[in-house]
Amino acid sequence: MSSPLIELKNIKKKYTTKAGDFPVLKGINLNIEEGEFISIMGKSGSGKTTLLNILGLLDKFNEGEYTFRGENISNFNENRKSEFRNKNMGFIFQQFHLIESLTVYQNIEMPLLYRSGETKEDRRKKIEERLEQVGLLEKRNNKPFELSGGQQQRIAIARALVTDPYLILADEPTGALDSETSDDIMELIKKLNDDGKTIIMVTHDKDLKRYTTRDVYLKDGEFSEEATI
Ligand SMILES: Nc1ncnc2c1ncn2[C@@H]1O[C@H](COP(=O)(O)OP(=O)(O)OP(=O)(O)O)[C@@H](O)[C@H]1O
Ligand SMILES: [Mg+2]
Repeated sequence: MSSPLIELKNIKKKYTTKAGDFPVLKGINLNIEEGEFISIMGKSGSGKTTLLNILGLLDKFNEGEYTFRGENISNFNENRKSEFRNKNMGFIFQQFHLIESLTVYQNIEMPLLYRSGETKEDRRKKIEERLEQVGLLEKRNNKPFELSGGQQQRIAIARALVTDPYLILADEPTGALDSETSDDIMELIKKLNDDGKTIIMVTHDKDLKRYTTRDVYLKDGEFSEEATI
């Protein structure tokens, strides 16, 4: 039997502040299979972003083990983490996180510039393919501020996809959008999952359950039954 895409074993995380230690995750166990579209739900402050950042190797944890495709990645140094992230993961954020001084095209190009051995022409093909996929090829030379919120999120999705990652991590991807635009973006993300991408999405919006294949609920640093959050 093949191992899951992701295995988290007894992950514990505390923030150390001047006010003292603050435990956020108290022993998280989670297996994610390739092809799942999983949401992490829970109230504000329940640790959703912290968990997503750990899954995305953007934040450290204090105890436990993180295995990705059978490989223990818990002890990677920062360089290996960056390389691993760039190769395997794409990120989508609530506030899009596009670079305002760059064009749409250049924003999508960014993750490819960290890689060696790709020509400008290789990059152009990948970028245009993704621009087409999100339906915004004609905006390639615009700056982010010239786009609507929904269009900016589409560009952020194109940027997340340009490296063809195994895994998409999305933190409240519709949190800054009106409900109609949210539906469009969720349809686009759902389509990525239909095409085989594994997706982990953080949200506090229970309506988004209609798009996912599985939902987990965080409460007080542990997984909980839905009814109790
Ligand atoms: N860098 C930090 N230092 C100290 N405490 C932190 C830090 N980041 C988050 N926390 C605390 O950890 C807890 C979990 O935060 P987190 O951002 O993971 O919650 P969340 O579930 O994503 O909330 P929201 O729905 O509001 O985004 C919160 O109580 C928060 O105050
Ligand atoms: Mg959050």
